[in-house]
Amino acid sequence: MKTEETITDRAVDPDILSYTVGDDPVLDMELTVWDCMGTAAHVTMLSEMPVDPPVVTRDEAARVRAELAKVVAAARAGDFAIEESDQDVHMAVERRLTETLGDLGKKIHTGRSRNDQVAVDVRLHIKDQLLGLADELTALAGALVAFGKAHDRVPLVGRTHLQPAMPSSVGVWATGHAEMILDQMENIEAAYRLNDRCPLGSAAGYGVPLPLDRQRTSDLLGFARPLHNVFGASMARGEDEAALLSALAQLMAVLSRLAEDMILFSMPEFGYFKLPRAYCTGSSIMPQKYNPDVLELVRSKTAQVLGLATASLALLHAMPGGYNRDLQDCKGLYMKGISVTRTTLRILAKVVAGMAVDEVALRRGFIPGVFATDVALRKVAAGVPWREAYHQVRDNLEALAAEDPDAAVAAKTHEGATAGLDWNFYKNRIDGISHGVGMRRKSFEALRKELIG
Ligand code: ARG
Repeated sequence: MKTEETITDRAVDPDILSYTVGDDPVLDMELTVWDCMGTAAHVTMLSEMPVDPPVVTRDEAARVRAELAKVVAAARAGDFAIEESDQDVHMAVERRLTETLGDLGKKIHTGRSRNDQVAVDVRLHIKDQLLGLADELTALAGALVAFGKAHDRVPLVGRTHLQPAMPSSVGVWATGHAEMILDQMENIEAAYRLNDRCPLGSAAGYGVPLPLDRQRTSDLLGFARPLHNVFGASMARGEDEAALLSALAQLMAVLSRLAEDMILFSMPEFGYFKLPRAYCTGSSIMPQKYNPDVLELVRSKTAQVLGLATASLALLHAMPGGYNRDLQDCKGLYMKGISVTRTTLRILAKVVAGMAVDEVALRRGFIPGVFATDVALRKVAAGVPWREAYHQVRDNLEALAAEDPDAAVAAKTHEGATAGLDWNFYKNRIDGISHGVGMRRKSFEALRKELIG
């Protein structure tokens, strides 16, 4: 039987190795920098551990950190590869350190398992990704608010069941979507906090008989705290990614509704909004076509992220406690989910910023029926009880006439209505999120610099 040599496994059948390694050599490339950061923190903590003789000295820890910085630089330059025989980034980095540092490289895995190692890599990666996502989310909300402000009181027919309902405005439409998107930050923030805990030191899920300082490793990496229970820490892998994917699925569903409105309102039959021609794609047979494919794909990506969230929960639900190799397959799911969501946020911000409005078409939509509720409310103002006013209008629908949409837009002055939008509310929320993200990124980047340059 033909077998392959790996660092840990004396001999593994190549087909079995290839199946178990799966996509790790490709996916783990994204984790290289975080793997090095995690190892730098672990080795630093090992060098401070009160054992005699030391596992590694402080000098040796510094040499390991310097070498890890080189691995990160090599990875950035495309000079670092994960071989199938490495299985994953963890072994590839250990192999490289052993090649360059000799016996010292063989010490770095003391008191650690790949189980807590990969879990910490994923958490550092997710933290970095979520900080980027938060910026992109606020940028999209900002683009919608800017669009709403630019066309604030431009009348737009409000719809329920897609039927003409009541006078509304472009300002209300745009900032309504912006607010939905900003609210999704609460779910993202929950996923961020759940993620902000350090699994290192749980090792294979059962700790080790060494005086590890788990708080110290957690602090070095900038986590809010260690995951306390070692067994729980091993089970948190996958749960964390599933919570993230659920938050992303919910966010995508919000984005999909925005895309759907934009598709609808930019149809020639509505003609309310116009997408730049360069943002539309054509047809190979119909010369006149300018299609909103970009927005249609937001819908399909939403379906995809929803599927990824479902896949992650399906993967978890029947797994026994402790590490199981199934967890490796969570990696591709969350990586795909976060990358699709981030691209979607960026592309939507661009499309929103480029969208034009056709005021004539928007005003044309104001058929008499749109004013029915306003007419009934004017009767109320003259003393008629509401239900009676409602019936008077309902029984004389043909008497309704087109009114001035601008006057209707100006008449709704209460909070959040056409003439009652608080632009500071949006500015403060967006500034608040951006400020928080900026602070977090600054301290995270400082720690990374400290550990791996
Ligand atoms: N590549 C593996 C993963 O992502 C690393 C952990 C392997 N651990 C193990 N006990 N086989 O899950």
